[in-house]
Amino acid sequence: MKRKSLGLVAMAAVGALALGACSGGGRGDTTDGTTDGTSGFAADATIGISLPWLGTQNWKEAQDLFTTQLTDAGFKPVVQAADNKVTQQQSQIESMIQSGAKVIVVGPIDGKQLGSVLESAAAEGVKIIGYDRMIENTEAVDAVVQFGSIRTGELQGQSLLDGLAERKGPGPYNIELFGGGPADPNAPNFFTGAMSVLQPKIDDGTLVVVSGQTEFTQVATVDWSNAEAQKRMDSLLSGFYADKKIDGVLAPNDGIARAILTSAEGAGQDVPVVDGLDAENESVVSIWEGKQYSTVAKPTDLLVAQTVELIQALQQGNDLPTPSESVDNGKIEVPVYALDPVVVTKDNAEEVFANDPARLALLK
Ligand code: BGC
Repeated sequence: MKRKSLGLVAMAAVGALALGACSGGGRGDTTDGTTDGTSGFAADATIGISLPWLGTQNWKEAQDLFTTQLTDAGFKPVVQAADNKVTQQQSQIESMIQSGAKVIVVGPIDGKQLGSVLESAAAEGVKIIGYDRMIENTEAVDAVVQFGSIRTGELQGQSLLDGLAERKGPGPYNIELFGGGPADPNAPNFFTGAMSVLQPKIDDGTLVVVSGQTEFTQVATVDWSNAEAQKRMDSLLSGFYADKKIDGVLAPNDGIARAILTSAEGAGQDVPVVDGLDAENESVVSIWEGKQYSTVAKPTDLLVAQTVELIQALQQGNDLPTPSESVDNGKIEVPVYALDPVVVTKDNAEEVFANDPARLALLK
């Protein structure tokens, strides 16, 4: 996927969306490059939300927040999660079309497997918004709302380096790499972003990947399964670290970070430096206790609010606001509304969660 910056900084503030006037790509574009939002629909319309699973905290938060924010905005939300099964997600989307949804918001399990169901939705005039993950290889997507996925990976890689310098003294450092679920378009992007920071340090000998496993296909974790990650970490430790210390591990999200920490503890290793993603409660506690080194926060409430703003613009028949970038999804240039993720360590946790009472309460 190619990314094209539209020359705007990623919008951190949801309110910024209200300022834009036209969009730069995607289905329904007019020849002058603006989105033809003339149709609009009823203010109490049904809105479908199709989530990939509820296996990590961010998706559970999305389930709750879409329900409340869409209801508060006057819509009728239908929120479903698909337990990581592509056919289940396809049939949930089909039934959203049947029930007359005007917009369907999708976090795809597999970025490439929804083309035909979304194309039939589009043929019925349904607008489609990708949520958190890109929708690939189809024209049937009007916009994607997400935290910058390459940026997320860069922050993860940089945080791993910072943690090694802070906790493990001077290098070289023994490390291992983990990626997320290969069907999720975010996972290779997180890894690409992280490797853009780590590869030069591998090349100059500061970092040593003892197993030699540095390709995404070697390090990916099917279905983002924590259990699978723990198994892989167990076998890396027994196979390559019987007489070596492991200093750090690149982790694509918090669940996998905790699986790695559990495995290292079981093998009698000192706590390695491990980054993460999502600021899940258990990881926030672990960071506060000095175990997991960091996470990357991508607040679900902001992402949901951003999505609801787009839905309201569509409802009113307005043009979509200006996106922060456009991404080639294999078929079209998709307008992407990218928010900024933030690294959280013990040092800045109180500051980052100043307006998040639930997480703030974990810091004690
Ligand atoms: C999301 C992460 C999440 C992962 C597994 C990714 O697409 O961006 O927040 O941890 O999926 O659910």
